[in-house]
Amino acid sequence: MGRAPKWILRSATSMAPRKTTMSMPDINVPRRLLLGSTAAAAAGGLLTGFGTGSLRAAGAQEPQAVSTPGYRPFYGRYQSGIIDAQQEHAVFAGWDLSWREGSRKDQLRSLLQMITDDASRLTSGRGVLADTEAEMAQIPSELTITVGVGQSLLEVIGQGKIGTMPAFAGDQLDERYGQTDLLIQFCSQDPTVLQHAVRAVSKNLRTLTRRRFVQSGFIRAKPGQEAFRNLFGQLDGINNPKDQAREQAVFDDSWVGNGTTLALRRFDMDLDRWDEVDVSGRDFALGRRQADGSPLSGQSVDDPVDLAAVNGLGLPSIAANAHVALAKPAHAAQSIHRRGYNFVDAGRSGLLFASYQADPQASFIPVQHRLAAADALNTWLTAVGSALYAILPGIEEGMYLGEQLIGLP
Ligand code: HEM
Repeated sequence: MGRAPKWILRSATSMAPRKTTMSMPDINVPRRLLLGSTAAAAAGGLLTGFGTGSLRAAGAQEPQAVSTPGYRPFYGRYQSGIIDAQQEHAVFAGWDLSWREGSRKDQLRSLLQMITDDASRLTSGRGVLADTEAEMAQIPSELTITVGVGQSLLEVIGQGKIGTMPAFAGDQLDERYGQTDLLIQFCSQDPTVLQHAVRAVSKNLRTLTRRRFVQSGFIRAKPGQEAFRNLFGQLDGINNPKDQAREQAVFDDSWVGNGTTLALRRFDMDLDRWDEVDVSGRDFALGRRQADGSPLSGQSVDDPVDLAAVNGLGLPSIAANAHVALAKPAHAAQSIHRRGYNFVDAGRSGLLFASYQADPQASFIPVQHRLAAADALNTWLTAVGSALYAILPGIEEGMYLGEQLIGLP
């Protein structure tokens, strides 16, 4: 996309090269297995009985090549769970770190090493160390574990800048779903496997962190399709960038080579008031038909969203304040890849909006400002959670997540 915002900090030595090959980044550090290293454990002063075996790759190195049914690769240029097909169940869990005396960078390294070990095991069908229910990990059902950090941890690392999520018009934020230091997105086709993975990772993090939220979500898409029905009944996820355009939107000119960012917003839906809206009112508010997802400017779901199209009365087919009219990227740099999930939790229902984008300041944030100001769907939506995360670059076997930024002890 050729944009390089000034606020992005890069380190000439530790950042990966731009995306020209599929090889792993040259970070000029020895490729030794960190996990099981007593030096690493001692540096953090936090870990005992830490891994002794090597990390086993769950699948191929290429991010989208899922060669073994039921397994998604843990190692690769990018982390899994971002541009690969969306699984049916997800948990987004957020933690704040409980710092101890000593170097915060060392503590963070130890934490990321432990998460890397846990995630590589779980995604390849093994329990974590001292797992009391390792049987539950045996069929990972496309489990992915995707790790991100907030700006607060980038400050500890001393590299990278993504900023924080600004306030948007109409937000009624609940701190329980707010910004945390650490975020892990767990996704699987099997909710039981998923819950075990969340619990296994959480148990190991318990002494080092305080968990703020666990937000569970679900979707069901027709085989071979990406769009799912959200709880308004709409087909959601139709106009996501595809293939190379997706990869570009998510990874090109990111805060770090092969990393990206995650915008996570929790929207309550007022389904009782939505019930009162008739079909044409619903379609008008979205700009697409609930029945088949087709845009009001066309007949079929694959027709383009044409904001210049007019109806028989000479009026715009898609209203200026319809959701898709305001959400449509004004230019390529505003493209985002949405990967959200429905939620039903303690009597409340809605959407865990999740989008991946290289540069949130150029894409997600202006689009969200437009929507917050005027989206016709706002009548039935309330944003109650909001956070922004730096998603770490992918790694190869023997590395730990974040190693490109933090390095070895
Ligand atoms: C609960 C909140 C939301 C609901 C229910 C919702 C629902 C939808 C639906 C049904 C579509 C049309 C189908 C599709 O192309 O996927 C759509 C499109 C879209 N939405 Fe949302 N959305 C929500 C929040 C957001 C937010 C917060 C953003 C970004 C800040 C966003 C960005 C987009 C984009 C970029 C499109 C595609 C527009 C185009 O056609 O180019 N949406 N959304």
